[in-house]
Amino acid sequence: MIIKTGNMFFLQGRGTSYVIRISEEGYVLHDYFGAEIAPEPYAEDKRGWWCMQATGADGACLDEIRQEYPCYGHTDLRRPAVNANRGTVLKYKDYEIIDGKPDLKRLPSALGGGSESLIITLADELSGAEVKLNYTVFEGSGIVCRSAVITNTGDEPLVIDRAFSASIEFPCSDFVEMHFSGSWGRERHVVKNELVHGIYEIENARGGSGNQINPFVILKDKAADEDGGDCYGFMLVYSGDHCTEIEVDQRGRTRVNAGINPFMFEKTLVKGESFTTPECILGYGNGLGELSREYHDFIRKRICRGSWSRKERPVLINNWEATYMDFDEDKLISIATLAAELGIELFVLDDGWFGKRDNDRCSLGDWTVNTDKIPSGLSGLAKKINGLGLKFGLWFEPEMVSPDSELYRAHPDWVIRSGREPALIRSQLVLDLTKPEVREYIINAVNAVLNSANIEYVKWDMNRYITDMPRKGFNYEYTLGFYEIMDGIVNSHPDILFEGCSSGGARFDAGVLCYMPQIWTSDDTDPIERVYIQYGTSFGYPPSTMGSHVTESPNQHTRRHLSMKTRGDVSLSGNFGYELDITKLNEADLEAIKEQTALCRELRGLVEYGDFYRLFDPFDGNLGGWMSVSGDKSRAYVCIARVLFKPNSYYTRLKLKGLDKNSRYRDLDTGKEYMGDMLMNRGLLIEFPFGDFTTVTMRLERIEGSTSGE
Ligand code: GLA
Repeated sequence: MIIKTGNMFFLQGRGTSYVIRISEEGYVLHDYFGAEIAPEPYAEDKRGWWCMQATGADGACLDEIRQEYPCYGHTDLRRPAVNANRGTVLKYKDYEIIDGKPDLKRLPSALGGGSESLIITLADELSGAEVKLNYTVFEGSGIVCRSAVITNTGDEPLVIDRAFSASIEFPCSDFVEMHFSGSWGRERHVVKNELVHGIYEIENARGGSGNQINPFVILKDKAADEDGGDCYGFMLVYSGDHCTEIEVDQRGRTRVNAGINPFMFEKTLVKGESFTTPECILGYGNGLGELSREYHDFIRKRICRGSWSRKERPVLINNWEATYMDFDEDKLISIATLAAELGIELFVLDDGWFGKRDNDRCSLGDWTVNTDKIPSGLSGLAKKINGLGLKFGLWFEPEMVSPDSELYRAHPDWVIRSGREPALIRSQLVLDLTKPEVREYIINAVNAVLNSANIEYVKWDMNRYITDMPRKGFNYEYTLGFYEIMDGIVNSHPDILFEGCSSGGARFDAGVLCYMPQIWTSDDTDPIERVYIQYGTSFGYPPSTMGSHVTESPNQHTRRHLSMKTRGDVSLSGNFGYELDITKLNEADLEAIKEQTALCRELRGLVEYGDFYRLFDPFDGNLGGWMSVSGDKSRAYVCIARVLFKPNSYYTRLKLKGLDKNSRYRDLDTGKEYMGDMLMNRGLLIEFPFGDFTTVTMRLERIEGSTSGE
């Protein structure tokens, strides 16, 4: 609900309020974001006059006030949300409240059913810059979505060198910022820093959103933990260069700007032209757990779309770590035949099926099947796989080209170039998606393959970042090109399950999730590494978005030996699957797979769509763990992992969360019964089983009729 009362706007979400105030001089001020307050006007905080303050002709000093979309250069010299020409001064012009959301044109954004938006227009008389600030609140959610549209209403060109999606200013700085950083095989590890005076940028300028820094940042009160305290989230619906800039100013206040990274950005607007920023999803939670559940719910309902977004995901087997590119049709069929017997539901053919691709130095761009390897062609292979009772899925990397390919030989000018010979990464170049003919080629080439066989799943990879960008602003245009391709392929195949991938999880963001409801979380499938990666990822993204597969032991990347049970337990906390040569396994492991696929069918609705609670922080101790609770609190699944074996660390106390305190639950594995309040307050002493000592899981079910008062 959006309420205007006097000079104040109250944006009321489920349990949250976002308050904007228009100052006497006509500036748009940020007043409050946090736990819900009544939409009653209250007095403005008094700002004491300071002898060193700059004062404009209207008597205002913007350096002293908290704004919604600050500018630089007149009376505010902090880092602005927007900057154009020699600086702008934006003043309130008018507002509009609409049902639903404004259209962000070529950018993906949250679904707007059951939402209401406030659009505030600001204008700068001198430069002709006009800015529309969009704010949306949603039924049944505490999230506020923001974006901005900048228009040049003047005669002179308007050169924008920064245009953030959202800016929020807090009156204090006793915060800890959390971001999610890493590298290949080490995605989204939790990093925490206490804020200090100065400017801190959490950013990436590699073309894709990147595994170095995820476009999701949290600010929390120093004392806030999983279960309480003010926590604020800034998540971009964007897959390109991004930046969250945190400035603690001379007066101890904190300004957060979140949006496109200004480092390599510039856009010139001619008269009448507009620029739209990506959307920023602002979240508030009383505790990190509540903040995450708010994002999980929002991503599942309003970011992910298409027929798979609410469906339970199939158990898959992918041939990558089983065969790499060294396979033939018989080998694939032998894996698929056994997979069907073990209860696996989808067979995915990874890299190496097209052109002459026997190694990673050729053929990207030539999306025609290699009939030397697959004599039946894709259609014949899909029929055989379907005949075994499995769905068939396929890997692509359409944004790329190998210099050794038919495509490159025909169109050397289709790659991104700045003048010099472009850099190779993994022997490949990036196609210039800003060119319409390149987008058309990709859309047609991929659609032709998808229409040629019964392909029910696609893994869309992007294995290198962008170098040699020809100009500032290029990465933004590339990202728009990527989204246009997504529109042209995903939207014409609404029943195909798409999974994003980028050397593992290097493009794991809400922009990609608007097209593909799941993403390969990391190439690192060692379960211990995955405890860290999946734990970090869970702060912003729900388990339904995380691909997590069992691979061989010792793990190919870490050489760590772990049991099939441990590998299965950790993988069952996401979209479950396998990525190993099952034809080489012993009977005991095959039996374990049968049990795991059955368990996955039992648990996946709960894991993918339940409420997620983190229990142990692997970045702060020897245990990592979490649990999922069904919406009606009748079922729960718990997974705890010990990341390091240490002598005398066989036991731990486990206190559960999110259960109904008045209900009695049965542990489905031991048959023991416990009251919900006992499990949450006293907890259980759990013992790590002998073996590889690593994981403990628990399945709980409410005993019907047990709830006190029933
Ligand atoms: C990337 C992916 C892997 C696999 C390979 C194929 O590295 O993350 O899962 O698909 O590409 O080349």
